[in-house]
This record gives sequence, C-alpha cells and structure tokens, in this order.
Amino acid sequence: MRIVTQGTHVDGARTDAALDSWRREFPILDTCTYLVSHSLGAMPQRAVTYLARFADEWTRRGVRAWHEGWWEMGREVGDLLGRIVGAAPGTITMHQNATIAQAIAASCMTWDVPRRKIVLQDLDFPTNHYLFEGLRRYGAEIVYVPSGSSISAPIDRLVDAIDEHTALVPISLVLFRSGALQDVRPVVERAHHVGARVILDVYQAAGTVPVDLGALGVDFAVGGSVKWLCGGPGAGYLYVRPDLAGTLRPSFIGWAAHESPFEFATGPVRYASGPERFQSGTPNVPSLYSARAGYEIVAEIGVQAIRARSLALTRRLMDAARTAGFRLNTPDADHERGGSVIVDVPNGEAAAAELIRRGVIIDHRPGAGIRMAPHFYNTEEEIDRAIATLVEIAGEQKTSA
Ligand SMILES: Cc1ncc(COP(=O)(O)O)c(C=O)c1O
Repeated sequence: MRIVTQGTHVDGARTDAALDSWRREFPILDTCTYLVSHSLGAMPQRAVTYLARFADEWTRRGVRAWHEGWWEMGREVGDLLGRIVGAAPGTITMHQNATIAQAIAASCMTWDVPRRKIVLQDLDFPTNHYLFEGLRRYGAEIVYVPSGSSISAPIDRLVDAIDEHTALVPISLVLFRSGALQDVRPVVERAHHVGARVILDVYQAAGTVPVDLGALGVDFAVGGSVKWLCGGPGAGYLYVRPDLAGTLRPSFIGWAAHESPFEFATGPVRYASGPERFQSGTPNVPSLYSARAGYEIVAEIGVQAIRARSLALTRRLMDAARTAGFRLNTPDADHERGGSVIVDVPNGEAAAAELIRRGVIIDHRPGAGIRMAPHFYNTEEEIDRAIATLVEIAGEQKTSA
C-alpha cells in the first residue's frame, strides 16, 4: 500500500510500522482490543504527564499559575487544534463541550424576525435537536429534514429545505449513528446563497477524517476532544469564520469575553476583539491539558496518515463482517464514511455486552448496531480478533436459542 502524506509518497509498510510504534503511548492497548475511539479515544501517556504538570503547578504556584500560562492556554490549545482541522490561528475557543459551543454560536442570532428557521436532519446527534428545540420559545422555527434511512441522509433534500427564511443550518460532517461522511459543500453553498449560517459539527470527524474548515467556508464549527482526538472530557471547541467573528455579538458569554476582563467592568460587555469574545468564564485548565496531549499526537502523525490507516482497517473490518454474514449499517464507499463501522447483528445489545466481557471494547446504539472504530493505533490482528469473537458469540447465541 502506498499513501500520500502532505504531498510526499510514503512507503505503506514503513508508515504502518511508525503507527504501530505509537501503541506504547496508549497503555490500554495492552489490556484489551480497543475499538471504541468514536466514543472515547485511548488515553495517551502524555496526558498523564500533562495532568501531573497541572497538579504540580496548582500545588506549587497556586493563584500565580493563572498568569504563568493557565489563562492563555485556551488560545494555545485552540490554535493547536486549528492545525488539525484547517482553522487559522485565533479562530477557535475552548468550552466545556460541543453542546455549549453550539449554544454560544446560536446566541449570536435573533429569532423573532422573518429569518428564523433552523433546518435540521433527523439523523443528527440528539443534542442538536434538544438545543435548537429550546429556541422555539424565542421565536425560532424548527424544520426537520427526513432521511428515509438510518444510514445516510440525502443532501439534496436538506439543500432544498434551505430558503430565504433560513437563519441556521447545523449539520454533522460524520453522522454518529452510522458513521456516514456527508458532503456538506452544497449545503454551505446554498445556505450562503440565501444568507443563512452553517454550524458544522465535526466531532465524529476531527482526528480521523481530514477536515479543512477554512476551505469549506463554514460559519461555525463545533466538536469535542474525547473521541478521535484522544483528549479528555471537558474540552469542547467553537470555530468561527475569521471574517465573520468580529461582527458577531454572542449573548451567551461571560466576563472572559470582555476586551479587558481584569478591569472587572460592570454593565454591558465591551467585546474582546479576538476569539475571546465567545468565551464564558474561567477556563477548564485540566481539561485543556488533557486535550493538548491528544491534539499534539494527532498533529504529529498527521490526519492524512491516520485516514489512510483508518480506511485500510475499516475496509478489512467490513469485508470480514460481510464474509461472516453480518449486515453493515455504514455506507460502503470510502468517500462516504468516517472512521467507524456499524455491524448489525441479531440481539446486538447482548452481543455487544458479551464482546466487551471478552475484551473487545466497542459500543452499541439502538437502531444502528455495534459500532466499531479502528484508530491509528489499532492493528489488522485486532480487527480479525474482534470479528472472530463476534462470530463466536453469534454462534453461541444461535445454539442457545
Ligand atoms: C456528532 C456529535 N455531536 C455532538 C455530540 C455531543 O457532544 P458534547 O457531549 O460534547 O456536547 C456528540 C457526542 O457523542 C457527537 O457524536
């Protein structure tokens, strides 16, 4: 296999060996077959080091630590992430989770006006529906575009639903339930044509699928760190298009959004001119430390190399699952899927529990099946073991039925 990494041809075998050498950084890989990076990526040793550094700074420096790096850390970590998702420096702010990041983006808009429609897909992650449903009380109108499938959603239908009354189109780059990778370009084009904004949820893509937010031209992007980015919880992020950011007046903000927060000025905010204008309050320093470790590793390896490995391993997984007679609830074409594969087996929930008991760590989603997600640190042997174990379990279930 030959892959292309940042314009250079790299020998496939050497790349695989280089990726294999990263396994030492992730101790959990010695204890089980870890195929659940779409949910919680393996913890890197580097995160242990960084969290210890945080504890040490807190212990030794106390309050002085705020001005010795803690206060600026959100911007540094956001810029590091920007290298992974194609965002210019100073365009990403860090927040507790993707839901809050999305709420901040939505708070830049008003809803008691003729342009008040929010167009959603029925296969979105539920947080999007709950959050935007809540804006009805401020005048927003919610439109759901039915997909007619549990695997992928026709983009044309979404494009057709966007009109001059549309204010916002929140869309996932990769659907959480099926792993389908959506072509969002026509959506951005249509939304901008009618004057609507797009929030791209890149949570299930960032770190495994190459993402170039600048080139996509989306207005906002949101996500979190715990999946393919191998970060810890509490580090969600918000990207805002640089030429748009300074014109926006988010209402869901706090003292950290002020141009000069340490003035502690009361009354209306004087927005910071940089990305801090989207900030709320005190930054979540330990989460930033734990996210930074994963971001550094993903950036060092490069998402192109990760994607090449992911495509090879997911293809192997799909072929093996099909040969074993299992149905797949993931699109087949490489350009239509992200990093996970959903295997539909009878009694999926029980089979998933048994897989975990036997050391194959995956998860199960109702209406989808068993989600399996090889990352750069997984091997072909692990894929084979996972499917062989599933075949064993399915066979035992049949015999005992
Ligand atoms: C696509 C997608 N969006 C949003 C979320 C929710 O993110 P958070 O818990 O950070 O708000 C998830 C979580 O799994 C997800 O998969």
